[in-house]
Amino acid sequence: MSERRVCVNDFEEEARTVLPKAIYDYYRSGADQQQTLADNTAAFNRWRFLPRVLRDVSTVDLSTCLLGQPLSMPVCVGATAMQRMAHPDGETATARACQAAGTGMMLSSWATSTIEEVMSAMTSSQGNARILWLQLYIYKDRELTLSLVHRAEEAGYKAIFVTVDTPYLGRRWDDVRNRFKLPSHLSMSNFSTASLAFSESNYGNDSGLAVYVAKAIDPTLSWKDIAWLKKHTHLPVIVKGILTGEDAAQAVNHGVDGILVSNHGARQLDGVPATLDVLEEVVCAVQGRCEVYLDGGVRRGADILKALALGAKAVFIGRPVLWGLACQGEQGVSEVLELLRAELRLAMALAGCRSISEVNRSMVRKIEFTSRI
Ligand code: GLV
Repeated sequence: MSERRVCVNDFEEEARTVLPKAIYDYYRSGADQQQTLADNTAAFNRWRFLPRVLRDVSTVDLSTCLLGQPLSMPVCVGATAMQRMAHPDGETATARACQAAGTGMMLSSWATSTIEEVMSAMTSSQGNARILWLQLYIYKDRELTLSLVHRAEEAGYKAIFVTVDTPYLGRRWDDVRNRFKLPSHLSMSNFSTASLAFSESNYGNDSGLAVYVAKAIDPTLSWKDIAWLKKHTHLPVIVKGILTGEDAAQAVNHGVDGILVSNHGARQLDGVPATLDVLEEVVCAVQGRCEVYLDGGVRRGADILKALALGAKAVFIGRPVLWGLACQGEQGVSEVLELLRAELRLAMALAGCRSISEVNRSMVRKIEFTSRI
């Protein structure tokens, strides 16, 4: 690990200096005033640990399972779009780093590498399993949508994470100011038709991606489409973007295999709660009927431990991976994953947990805020 980079924030600081401004802005931004963006990270500071002592923590086992798939730690890589803007190797570098770390990667529908290419970037000889999941946007063109699903099935992906919080793209001010679009040498590689591949065509004075989404993504999406998707794939279906107990219960009633508590990295509706703040409500509504995961604001091993204590089976990280990629490609992503692993191990040991099964709700307490007025 570089001596300069001792925490995830150091990776972001370095990435900011190496990335072109419009690209850094696109990755970093939240929607509107970015209240939720700030809250996603701040929420972790509202919880305190109640550590147990004298428990022989000379060995700490971080291994776990996600949908029956063994993982070396409960930290997975979430979907972030267009990773070749961060580094020429893009998603293939991320995939290799995930495999080396013994964890899984969720590939964005909007990747700048194909579904097949990313699977083959993971080698079958490396020892660790190849764990890839596909993040799916439901397009107005349903045949095209299903073709992505079927390609993922063929290529050996393990599940479909369907994004349910994006009938339109949230308004990200810097992307509008920068008239964000993909650099000319890149395109969304999983689409063969130019109109669906979002590249540098003229999208007017708006965020190019927002215009693209309005044209291509289906805003009529409803619960019946979850049933439709389940009917057309044998892969487990996880809904990504649930923030209430009511929707979590609906999701379970629709037979989903998992729920990702997510506010899309605070990039959709500004003013929604931090994901950590609604995690318990979702976990309670689900009552163990499917797995629950969390993304949003995870920057430290201690954050991961808090999310697990509040009922998440695993967490997904987004921006930290982009910062690692921008700093040093595959090596940078590996460093971010190993940093979080080391931080989680230390946090668990200091809290008195020897394995993931020992992490529980009694380990954390929300701090009370008392008004001084
Ligand atoms: C991609 O998913 C984005 O929200 O920009």
